[in-house]
Amino acid sequence: MSRKLKEDVVLKVDDLSIVYQTGRGDVKATNDVSFELKKGEAMALIGESGSGKTTVSLSLIRKLPKNALITKGEILYQRDGQVQDVLKLSNRQLREFRWKECAMVFQGAQNAFNPVLKISKQFEDTARSHGWKDKNAVRERALNLLKLVRLDPERVYDSYPHELSGGMKQRTLLALGVLLSPQIVILDEPTTALDILTQRAIIDVLNEMQRQLDFSIIFISHDLSLAAEMADIVATVYAGEIVEMGGVNSMFYDSVHPYTYGLLTSVPTLDHTQDLLKSIPGSPPNLINPPSGCKFHPRCEFATDKCKSEAPPFVEDTGDHPSACWHKDAVIQARKEKV
Ligand SMILES: Nc1ncnc2c1ncn2[C@@H]1O[C@H](COP(=O)(O)OP(=O)(O)O)[C@@H](O)[C@H]1O
Ligand SMILES: [Mg+2]
Repeated sequence: MSRKLKEDVVLKVDDLSIVYQTGRGDVKATNDVSFELKKGEAMALIGESGSGKTTVSLSLIRKLPKNALITKGEILYQRDGQVQDVLKLSNRQLREFRWKECAMVFQGAQNAFNPVLKISKQFEDTARSHGWKDKNAVRERALNLLKLVRLDPERVYDSYPHELSGGMKQRTLLALGVLLSPQIVILDEPTTALDILTQRAIIDVLNEMQRQLDFSIIFISHDLSLAAEMADIVATVYAGEIVEMGGVNSMFYDSVHPYTYGLLTSVPTLDHTQDLLKSIPGSPPNLINPPSGCKFHPRCEFATDKCKSEAPPFVEDTGDHPSACWHKDAVIQARKEKV
C-alpha cells in the first residue's frame, strides 16, 4: 500500500498515542501527537521533564521500552518519493532505517561508545553492519565528518573514548550519527550534561553540519534558548500533547498558549537550566490520572471552569501556528501589558 506525502515532507506523524503499562495503571505518555517534518528543517520539541518528549522520539525509531504500547496513530517516512510506514517495518528493515534514514543521538550520549574499542573501530563496525565494508572509504568519510564537527580528525579517529572530553565525545557521536547519511537526526537533550560554553559550541557545530549535509533535525530540549538557536519550528509538549506549534519567531514573540508563555518568561539567565520553570507554579501532572479538561488547568493563571471540564481543540487561529487553549486572547493581552 503506497501513501502519498507532500514532496518536501520526510516525516509525518499522525494522531500518535502511546501508553506505558505499569502496575499502577497506564501512563498516558503521548496523546494524539501530529506533526510534519520537512526536508532540511529543524524542529524542536520543548517542555519540562516528564512531558513525553523522549517517548515521541523513541517511537520514531521504534526503540520504545517493552512496556510501551502504541495505541493509535501512524508514522510515515519518505525518501525520494518512496513512503515507508515506520510502525510496520520488519526487524530487518528497522535496522536499516535506524542509521541510514533516521539516526538518534541520545540523552547522556557520553556513554554511547564502547570503552574498550577505538573510535575508528566503532565507525567501522557501524558501517560494516550496514553492508559498507571498505575500511578506507569509511575512514575517509569519518575523517571528513570529524573535521566538520571541528575535531582533530586523525587524532580522534585513533583514540579510545576515555581519551576524549565530554564535548569531544558528543561531537564524535554527532559525526557517527551522520556516517550513513540519514535524512533525519534526532537529538534528545544532546547538550544537557555539558557546560554552557560546550553547549553553545555543539549547537554551532550542529548548525554547520546541517548546512552542509542538509538533514532534518528533531531537537529535544527543556532549554528554550538552545532550541531557538537550532530550530525552524518549535512545538511545546505538555502532558504528552503538543499544545502549541509554530515557526521559531512566531513562537517566541506571539505564543498564545499559557504554558509556552510561561516557559518563555522563565528563560534563565546564562547560568543554568534547572530552574527554568520557576515562574510556572506546581509540577507536571501524573500521567496515569491526568487532570480533566485542559491538562494544564491546575497550573494555569488563566484557567476558568470551562478549562476544567472541556479540553480545548488544537487549532490554528493565526496563520501557521496552532495551539490548544480557551483563553488565547487573555494571554495576548497579558503579553501586551508586560511590555
Ligand atoms: N518505561 C516506562 N514505564 C513507565 N512510565 C514511563 C516509562 N518511560 C517514561 N515513562 C513516563 O512517561 C512520561 C513521559 O516520559 P518521557 O517521554 O521520558 O518525558 P520527557 O522526555 O519529556 O522527560 C513520564 O511520566 C514518565 O515518567
Ligand atoms: Mg527525555
